[in-house]
Parts: sequence; structure tokens; C-alpha cells
Amino acid sequence: MATINGKEYPQLAILKMTSQLRTLMTIIRNKDTKRNDFIFYSDRINRLLVEEGLNYLPTREKVVQTRTGETYVGSEFVGKICAVPIIRAGLSMQNSIREVAKRIRIAHILIQRDEATAKPIFFKDWLPDDIENRFVFILDPMLATGGSANETIRSLKLKGVGEDKIIFINLVAAPEGIEAVLSAYPGIRIITAEVDQGLDENAYILPGLGDFGDIYFGTD
Ligand code: PRP
Ligand code: URA
Repeated sequence: MATINGKEYPQLAILKMTSQLRTLMTIIRNKDTKRNDFIFYSDRINRLLVEEGLNYLPTREKVVQTRTGETYVGSEFVGKICAVPIIRAGLSMQNSIREVAKRIRIAHILIQRDEATAKPIFFKDWLPDDIENRFVFILDPMLATGGSANETIRSLKLKGVGEDKIIFINLVAAPEGIEAVLSAYPGIRIITAEVDQGLDENAYILPGLGDFGDIYFGTD
């Protein structure tokens, strides 16, 4: 649960702004940060995000015997998962989720914002046949108008994925995007590292960091 501009969003989780996270966010937002540092530090934040995402997966009780001969009442994850990076910037989060989930399937969805209108254009997706039986982590570092995320969720729902099985992992969000996604799909979860002030006239996030995909992949 988080509150943005006085509105409560039960399905929104924002990472605790620790001194570490503030420092990492400052590095990736700084226009003078070199590309290799941008990649290294945004990967660090992505790792914190996917670790937090795992906390929303269901678990069941599991009892084990320890090497002392005693019993430990613990837990284990229930269910299979699939990550869906939104190409292209979402690809930057793929390795972080592979590092924490060994048997994860990685699907992809190719959506690009039209630069003139900021509207999402869907090109293609590659999704496993059994995706409706999996918990799905949508990966995209930028949530601006929410158009790309909503197009992705629409595709997943058409394949039978329930909203309660969708977790959107995001690095920087605009309030407009959060409202657009959670009003359209109130059953999904969003996990983000920071919520910014809003959008500029070109639907870029302010203060934001610029075009994430261009910086990360070296096309700026
Ligand atoms: C960026 C970003 C999101 C989208 C966010 O991608 O990675 O997918 O814009 O904006 P929205 O919430 O208004 O839809 P873009 O289409 O620019 O392509 P890129 O990943 O190649 O940078
Ligand atoms: N995509 C980005 O990379 N940055 C923004 O601020 C908005 C969309």
C-alpha cells in the first residue's frame, strides 16, 4: 500500500528509501554519469526490486531437519514464474531476475512508444504456452503514461493470465502512469523504486533520468 498525491493504492509498493537506494538513484539520474556506471548502478537497483518482487509470491509451510537433528518449520515457494521484459529497456532487468530465480521462463514483448504521440505500438510477443499457469513479472524500468504497461497487461490477460498473478517491476514511475495502470487493472501489483513528480509535454518523467533504453544500450 502506498499513497500518491493523497490517493491510496493498495496494490503499489515503493522500496524503502534507504541511504543506499538514495545514493544509487542519484548516480543513475545524474546527467554526468558515464554509461558503464549507469549500467552497474541501475543493475544494483534492479536487483533490489526483483528481490522485493519475490516477497509477493505465495509460499507454503515446509518442515526440514537441520544438521543438528532438530526440526525447522520454514517455507517454500509455490508455483512457476515467468518474466516478461518489455523490449527494449525491460531487457536491462532480465539478468537481475535470472540471478534470483533459477528456473524462470523468460518471455518477451516488443512494444515501442510512438515518439510523436507517446502512444504504445505493439509489434510482437513471445510467451510460453502455459503462461496462464505462471506468476508473471513484467519488467520495465520506466512507467510514464502507462500505455506500454497497459498494452502488455492486455496481451497477458488475452492469454488467460489473471491480474492477481501479475507483478510489474519498475524503477521510476510517474503518478500518471500508476493511476493509468491501477485504474485499468486494479488486481495487478506494481513494485517501484521511486515515484517522481509527473510528466513533461513529451510524456517524459520529471525529474526522471531521460531515455533509459538509450542510455543503457548506448544509443543516445
Ligand atoms: C520506454 C520505456 C517504457 C515506456 C514507458 O520505452 O522503457 O516501455 O517508454 O512509457 P509509457 O509508460 O508512456 O508507455 P520506449 O518505447 O521509449 O522504447 P525503449 O525501451 O527502446 O527505450
Ligand atoms: N521512457 C523513458 O525512457 N523515459 C521516460 O521518461 C519516459 C519514457
